[in-house]
Amino acid sequence: MGKRHIIAALDIGNHKIRTMVASLGEKEDNVNILGVGIAPSEGLRKGAVIGVNELIGCISMSLEDAERMAGEAISYVFLGIGGPHITSHDSKGVIAIAHHENEITEEAIDRVLEAAKNVPIPNNSRILRVIPKNFNVDEQKGIKYPVSMMGVRLEVDAHIITGQLPIIKNIEKCVFQAGVDIQDIIPANIAASSAVLSKRQKELGVVSIDIGAGGTSMVAYEDGTTLHSCILPVGGENVTNDIAIGLRASIDTAEKIKIEFGSCNPADVSQRETIDLSRLSPLDTQTVSKQQLAEIIQARYHEIFCLAKDELRKIGRDGMLPAGAILSGAAAKMPGILELARETLNLPVQIGYPQQVEGVVDGIDDPQFATVIGLLILGSQYEAHFNNFNQFKALNLGKMWTSTKNWLRHLLP
Ligand SMILES: Nc1ncnc2c1ncn2[C@@H]1O[C@H](COP(=O)(O)OP(=O)(O)OP(=O)(O)O)[C@@H](O)[C@H]1O
Ligand SMILES: [Mg+2]
Repeated sequence: MGKRHIIAALDIGNHKIRTMVASLGEKEDNVNILGVGIAPSEGLRKGAVIGVNELIGCISMSLEDAERMAGEAISYVFLGIGGPHITSHDSKGVIAIAHHENEITEEAIDRVLEAAKNVPIPNNSRILRVIPKNFNVDEQKGIKYPVSMMGVRLEVDAHIITGQLPIIKNIEKCVFQAGVDIQDIIPANIAASSAVLSKRQKELGVVSIDIGAGGTSMVAYEDGTTLHSCILPVGGENVTNDIAIGLRASIDTAEKIKIEFGSCNPADVSQRETIDLSRLSPLDTQTVSKQQLAEIIQARYHEIFCLAKDELRKIGRDGMLPAGAILSGAAAKMPGILELARETLNLPVQIGYPQQVEGVVDGIDDPQFATVIGLLILGSQYEAHFNNFNQFKALNLGKMWTSTKNWLRHLLP
């Protein structure tokens, strides 16, 4: 029996902060969830810190709950961050292979990925990920993994994800002050897609759409590689705000009726059905129509899917991904969402349930956990790459997350 190896993931969302602790088995894809901690998210707006102490308090609460359930102390986390400040760019890197007998080595791959970073990125941004899409060796195009091939020129088409430095630094600071180290920062959209998409779907062509509170994150794949990623600045929070304005209800009541009575399909709701808001909150006295509630919700979800469709159109894949769209995030639990998404996107659509994990914790089979489970899956691949945790720590490689890293090749099929 091998040594039990514990990792933790921290997803700092705009609505909830979720921590998961897992043990890794002998095989890298054996992620066994031991503990979950969910805390409300305060002090964060659209992915940026607006209240340091509030956020530290919420992170600590989430970490402590997960530690208690798992019976394990967390010393470092794989951290997921999102928000509209995360942007992506395509880039190319080219290097000459002057190596012995012109064989492409792992080291050459690191060099070419490093060369791909040499693109103009927005001011004050930090590169979070360089994801290789395809490699070209001399005249041979579209190679997935060129190690040990022969050639004199190695080229990579890469997808680069950046985030705004001041925002990232403030989040890092809050995490450190909550008492844990950061092993790696992973964009939330990449994490969510890693949890809910299968290898086959990525081969066929698929888009993962995670609808959170502050935004909607998307990643499209085809032929097993990343085609496009982005974060749309509209999410469940906008739906709640629309309800508050449209029905003149307080924001807390708007959130409550959205979750309890909401639907994306007004045609399914009888015109006569009403909700007496005074039964939910002393702040609200009126009675509202369930159908009107559904109309407001439908309008905003429709906008989210129209924006997603625009993104697919930009890359020439509007209605063209055979494995369709896979929805995750807590806001994907809205009744009627599948029909609305199918009609708007003109694609097959399913809810994405996190895969590749097991565990004693109930209720993890839920699209709200896509991002945090994806962080664990990518974290387990990271650990497997470095093989031995203690050796890894002894080498003091803990803060290597800014660099490209070989383990990113795990993102290739
Ligand atoms: N059962 C439900 N049905 C519909 N919407 C829901 C449900 N539960 C939660 N939501 C909505 O989902 C949103 C929160 O989603 P989620 O918890 O995935 O966000 P987050 O990860 O904290 O935020 P983000 O990803 O934007 O940083 C909120 O707007 C909330 O109102
Ligand atoms: Mg989220």
